Amino acid sequence: MRFRYGSSTLKFQVMRHPVEPFRIKTVERINLPDREERERILREAKYNLFKIPSEKVFIDFLTDSGTGALSQEQWGAIMVADEAYAGPRSWFKLKDAIYEFSGFDDSIPVHQGRAAEKIIASIYLYEGAKVLSNTLFDTTRANFESVGAIIYDIPIKESYTLEENHPFKGNIDLEKLEDILRRENVALVVMVMTNNTGGGQPVDLDNLISAYEICKRYNVPLIIDACRISENSYFVKKRNPKYSNWEVKDIIKESFKYCDGAFMSAKKDGLSNMGGFLFLKDPEKNLRAKELLILWEGFIHYGGLSGRDIESFAVGLLESRDERYLEYRTGQVEYLTRKLKEIGWDVMLPPGGHAAYVEVSRALKHIPKENFPAHSLAVEMYREGAVRVVEVGSLMFKDKAKFEFVRFAIPRRTYTQSHLDYVIDVAARIYEKRESLRGYRIIYEPPYLRHFLAELEMV
Ligand code: F0G
Repeated sequence: MRFRYGSSTLKFQVMRHPVEPFRIKTVERINLPDREERERILREAKYNLFKIPSEKVFIDFLTDSGTGALSQEQWGAIMVADEAYAGPRSWFKLKDAIYEFSGFDDSIPVHQGRAAEKIIASIYLYEGAKVLSNTLFDTTRANFESVGAIIYDIPIKESYTLEENHPFKGNIDLEKLEDILRRENVALVVMVMTNNTGGGQPVDLDNLISAYEICKRYNVPLIIDACRISENSYFVKKRNPKYSNWEVKDIIKESFKYCDGAFMSAKKDGLSNMGGFLFLKDPEKNLRAKELLILWEGFIHYGGLSGRDIESFAVGLLESRDERYLEYRTGQVEYLTRKLKEIGWDVMLPPGGHAAYVEVSRALKHIPKENFPAHSLAVEMYREGAVRVVEVGSLMFKDKAKFEFVRFAIPRRTYTQSHLDYVIDVAARIYEKRESLRGYRIIYEPPYLRHFLAELEMV
C-alpha cells in the first residue's frame, strides 16, 4: 500500500509535501547555538532534553502539544475575551463550538487533557479496576494507575510491526476485547484517536463502531481520548473508501456517537496553546464531573482557563476540520517519515498524523535497552543540529516499551518544508556515524513519568 503525497499530481510528488495553506504574519527568531555550547547545554541538562531552554533549540519537535501557531481569527477572538468568573460570553462560544464539533451540548472545560483524565479516573476507576485500550497515553496511564487501576493495551497485532501492512494500526483488537469482556469484569474501555504511543496511528471509524457495540453488549462504558480526532478523521476519509465522500467534520461528529463520553486536550487538534474539555453522556456522571471540576480546576464556565484561552480554543477547534489544512498537516508528517526512511532509519509505517517515529533497535543495536538507544539518538539530534525530539521507548515506558522510538512531533502550522529538510539533513549525518553513538544511564529518577525529570550520564 502506498499513499500519494497530498493531492498534487506533479512529477515532484515525492520531493515535496503539500503547500502550506497559509502565509506568515508574525515571526519568531530561532537560534542555533554552536557545537561547543550545545555540548555544554546537554551536560548541564543532565542529558534530559526537557531541561534544555527552548531558546537554545533551533527546531523544536519535542511535542505537537500546545506549540502550534494561532490564526488571525484566534488572535482576534483573544482580544474580545470575556474574563467573567461565571457566565462569560467566551464560555458560551466554546460550548457552542464543542456542540458543533462533537454534537454534544453539555461539555465541561478543563485546562488540559490530564485534568480530564484525573476526573474520569475518579468517577470510573478504583483499586484493581481493569481498563482496556488501544494503547493509553503516558499521562492517562499514570492518572489511572494512581487510583489503583490495571491497564491492558490491546491494539491489533499489526501495530507491533513497523511495516506498511494496515491502514489503521491504531485499531483495537476486537476479538481480544470481546474475549476479555466475556471473562472479566472491566471498568472502562478507552479508544485513543489517534494512538500517540503506537506511532500516531489512526483508528478506523468502523473499528470504533464495533468496539462500542461490543462494550454495549457487556455494559462497559467506552470513552474516547479525542485529542487528535481531526487528524484521525482525515485518515478515515483517505484510507477507508466507505467514507471517501464524507466531509471530515461529519466523520468527527459521527465518531462521537459511538462513545459514552470523551475528553480532549485542545493543545493538539484544538489548535490552541492551552485547554481541553470532557463530557460524559450519563447525566449523573456528568454532574459528578462538574462537582470535581469545581474542586480541582475551577468553575464550570472556565475550568482552569482564562477567557483568552477559551476564545482561542473555540475558534481553533473548528479550524482543525479544514481539509486543506489537514491535507498539508498529514502530508508534512508523511514527507518527514518517508525521508527519514530513505536516509536509512527504520520508521513506523504508514505515516501517522502528528509525528514521524524512528525505531532505532536495528540501527543502534550496539546500545542495549538498559542504556536507552532511542534516547541516544534523541540526544544526538540536539548535539548535531540543536534539533529537539523525544524518546518514546525504554526510558519513557521501562520494560513495557514495545519499540525504541524517537518521536519527531511537528507543531501545527509552525514549520515550513525547509525546516523539515534541515531536520532530515541532521538525521542523515547521524545515520552515517551511528556506530559511534553511546548509551546513557539514569542517575536520578522520580516514581511517576520518569522521563520528564530523570537525570542521566553517558555510558
Ligand atoms: N492523550 C493523548 C493521546 C496525548 O497525546 C496527551 C498529551 C494527553 C492525552 C494529555 O493531554 O498534555 O493536554 O494533558 N500528549 C502530549 C504529547 C504531552 O507530547 O504527546 P495534556
